[in-house]
Amino acid sequence: MYGIRCRPIIFVLCYVVQAVLVEAGDPPGHLQPIGSHMPPMHIEERNDFPNPIEFYDNYVAPGKPVLFKGAAKQFPSYNNWKNDSYLSEVYGSMYMAAETAKKEDRNNPIREMNFTTFLSLYEEEDIYMVQYLTPPQPITKEMFVPKSLLCPGFLELLNMALLWFSSGGTKSVLHNDSFENINCLFDGTKELIMIDRKHKELVPIDNMEKGYSSVDVERVDMYKYPTLSKLPWYIANMDTGDCLYIPMKWYHHVNSSL
Ligand SMILES: *[C@@H]1O[C@H](CO)[C@@H](O)[C@H](O)[C@H]1NC(C)=O
Ligand SMILES: *[C@@H]1O[C@H](CO)[C@@H](O)[C@H](O)[C@H]1NC(C)=O
Ligand SMILES: *[C@@H]1O[C@H](CO)[C@@H](O)[C@H](O)[C@H]1NC(C)=O
Repeated sequence: MYGIRCRPIIFVLCYVVQAVLVEAGDPPGHLQPIGSHMPPMHIEERNDFPNPIEFYDNYVAPGKPVLFKGAAKQFPSYNNWKNDSYLSEVYGSMYMAAETAKKEDRNNPIREMNFTTFLSLYEEEDIYMVQYLTPPQPITKEMFVPKSLLCPGFLELLNMALLWFSSGGTKSVLHNDSFENINCLFDGTKELIMIDRKHKELVPIDNMEKGYSSVDVERVDMYKYPTLSKLPWYIANMDTGDCLYIPMKWYHHVNSSL
């Protein structure tokens, strides 16, 4: 009988303790890397390339990301582009721009140098090559695209090709692009945190013109960016040789391992 009378008291006490704990705690993911607030969803993976029509209907039109496992290994340049001696020997005089910090800050200055100099520095210094590849640069002869893009007229639609090159440990800002993206990885691993474009009301893009967020991707301030703590997100884990389709306007943060 004594026990029965006590139960309501215990219940009330527990309730009070719980309420205090919830109130005192920070929002999930506060001051942690972006994506720590909830577990991610996974994107589709395939071991083949669909033909252009299937690719368009199933991924581009609905805006659905997809990871093509090992796809870049089919490119004839795959081994050359992993080989620093080859790159220096064949394209050493190519002039290029390097970002001066691996953690992206779009206000940082750019350093210009040739490819040979970059290859002699990049393992030691905090630099990150981000270079447009456009004909008639000789290296563009070794550029390939997945066959899913090979529809008539694709060359006119191909907006730009960019080469990113570092010794790892890069972190981009959280941003969206106004174009479709295919990212092929020749070496290392990358982790992409992606947010569906349909959640645009919840994504704190505060640099509207360039479409990026000033949120610190390594230490998210959930009080300053409260909508981020409710945001469902996807993860794409890329291994060497994978290609990833990032739909236009999907938000993404790219993280390359060391
Ligand atoms: C890298 O390239 C150099 C120079 O072209 C070549 O001699 C060497 O065999 C290549 N190494 C590999 C592992 O392919
Ligand atoms: C690259 O630049 C360095 C320093 O400016 C120069 O000494 C070197 O000859 C250049 N190498 C090539 C292959 O252009
Ligand atoms: C990026 O997202 C913002 C809203 O979050 C939107 O206004 C803007 O148009 C998007 N930018 C691009 C390039 O899609």
